[in-house]
Amino acid sequence: MPESATPRRRLPLLDLVGGGRSRATCHYRCGDACFHPAPNTSSNSYFGDIFQGVLSRRSALRAGAVTAGASAFGLASLTPAAAERGPNRPHPAPRLTFKSVLPNNDDALTVPKHYEQHVIIRWGDPVLPGAPEFDVNAQTAEAQAQQFGYNCDYVGFHQLDDDHGLLWVNHEYTNESIMFAGWNGGANADPEQLRVVMAAHGGSLVELERVGGTGQWKLSEGERSFNRRIHTSTPVTLSGPAAGSDLLRTEADPTGTEVLGMLNNCAGGMTPWGTFLSGEENFHQYFSNAPGTAETNRYGLSTRASGRRWDRVDERFDLSKHPNEANRFGYVVEIDPLDPQAKPVKRTMLGRFKHEGANTILAADGRVVVYLGDDERFDYMYKFVSDGRYVEGSRRQNLTLLDSGTLYVARLTGNSPAEEIDGSGALPADGEFDGTGEWIALCNSTKSFVRGFSVEEVLVHTRLAADAAGATKMDRPEDFEPSPVTGKVYCALTNNSAREPGQADEPNPRGPNRYGHILEIIEDGEDNAATSFGWNVPLVCGDPEDDDTYYAGFDKSKVMPISSPDNLAFDKHGNLWISTDGQPGSLGTADALHVMPVEGRFRGELKTFATVPVRAEACGPFISEDNKTVFLAPQHPGDNGTFESPTSTWPDGDFPRPSVACIWHQAGRDVGQ
Ligand code: FEO
Ligand code: CA
Ligand code: CA
Repeated sequence: MPESATPRRRLPLLDLVGGGRSRATCHYRCGDACFHPAPNTSSNSYFGDIFQGVLSRRSALRAGAVTAGASAFGLASLTPAAAERGPNRPHPAPRLTFKSVLPNNDDALTVPKHYEQHVIIRWGDPVLPGAPEFDVNAQTAEAQAQQFGYNCDYVGFHQLDDDHGLLWVNHEYTNESIMFAGWNGGANADPEQLRVVMAAHGGSLVELERVGGTGQWKLSEGERSFNRRIHTSTPVTLSGPAAGSDLLRTEADPTGTEVLGMLNNCAGGMTPWGTFLSGEENFHQYFSNAPGTAETNRYGLSTRASGRRWDRVDERFDLSKHPNEANRFGYVVEIDPLDPQAKPVKRTMLGRFKHEGANTILAADGRVVVYLGDDERFDYMYKFVSDGRYVEGSRRQNLTLLDSGTLYVARLTGNSPAEEIDGSGALPADGEFDGTGEWIALCNSTKSFVRGFSVEEVLVHTRLAADAAGATKMDRPEDFEPSPVTGKVYCALTNNSAREPGQADEPNPRGPNRYGHILEIIEDGEDNAATSFGWNVPLVCGDPEDDDTYYAGFDKSKVMPISSPDNLAFDKHGNLWISTDGQPGSLGTADALHVMPVEGRFRGELKTFATVPVRAEACGPFISEDNKTVFLAPQHPGDNGTFESPTSTWPDGDFPRPSVACIWHQAGRDVGQ
């Protein structure tokens, strides 16, 4: 047990379901996806039976890596000199010296000694100028459309100057049981309640100002002219090669170029030109009466009435009447925070699936690369490479980059014999879960590379195209994020209770995979636009006292437990911050924000920076450009309670309110110190 003489208690596991979430979270967030068979019924190999006997790509890269040229990275303020990449770069980070928060089940946001935390904004707080104050007992759709929405997932922060910035927050989904008194399901709800929750989805943009030169931020007291609410009725442009196709046309939108709203926006990312990307994830749960075709089944769309029953107030959610409406959700949405009049844009070129994050880096030649995860058991990892190049200062050029390029899906191959990967998590004889991979092109803007699929079909039925291309089935790829310091890419594979021991393979080495793992990708030539890569698994999550965990070879008596890695972020030193979604169900303690160096001699020394309130998931996180602030969004506190009997009263002691908080060091040190 690190940093404490207190032995860790194994706490009773509560109403655990497949992914370690509570039953209520599964129901409201994913439409009970884990209670249905995984929708990937393709015969794609798990690749555990493939042994190519190749040398570790990582070793080869170490031996012969070329230093990237004048490469640029995701955010200008995080951009190191290109010369710092490659084998001769300096030591990447000072050691993380803060003292870990210990595992707990407190109904609080708990931060390390010498740190402070402050709740910036809560569900219902006014966003638009003139918005009414929140009254939980008198909610209206009109008010909610002007107030901060429900469950907060991705958090991004666009800093305008030293003391001002714009905070973007995704509102992923709603939990009606704790929003309304006497909730008895969508079929029985007052129609106005359905309109309220439709208005509570989407996202919020709010202006912040720094408090007195510290790492604390608060809501701006100025004009708030940038503030925005995007919700289920907001007009959103469909762009890219699939826009206008027959697959996207509806009675209300015969051109197939504009859709109302975005749904279940989970993780996201920022572009080098300062826009936010927001991923539509479990959109299937909002639709009723799917026709049961291969295309609708592959996305988990139900042939029956949905639990939410939004079709009662908006007919487009009934697919028996408007069969193409579901094709208009499941995209990455680009939001320009600097232009309050700009419509959000769904970028069809980035494919349609249950998008988690969308994280961007510039390739050596200036093309934009976006890494994309499809969060479902046995689904895939994708990347997009633009045709055009980023031009600093040219918003006109840069705002077109995500409409034209090539969409790839990942195929991974292990380098150890299949019989050494037995599903237990035991390392193979070469001491590492590792291997090589290739990016299989699915289509570019004008040409499909998948037989039987047009470009439009690849981009709308992306999962089926990727099945046909032979992608590797992964354990719920969530956030997928390049390091702005090294260009190496990290994917959080949250867990997969449905992977059987015989389905374990080197990139997904446990079956069942209850605690999840992190994959590290090193693109060939350290060029993020490459079509082949090496990979390894630096973190196999769980209780470090258990044999099936691995912390990049670091001494496991000096690390903290972690389960169900979900959202990722980097600080300016290249430390990997990992938030979790499922520790209460799998480890019996609160979800948390952890941080782990991925370079140098402390690689694998995972520490716990914060724990979140009862039943909350740790979302965000976002590390400010100056490294002085962590933005964190405790999502769905008290998700297993009811309005009448809350199980969390965070943050105010009365009823649970999903919120965004900031955390900073009292003495103004970099976060992690
Ligand atoms: Fe919304 Fe994949 O978590
Ligand atoms: Ca190996
Ligand atoms: Ca997530």
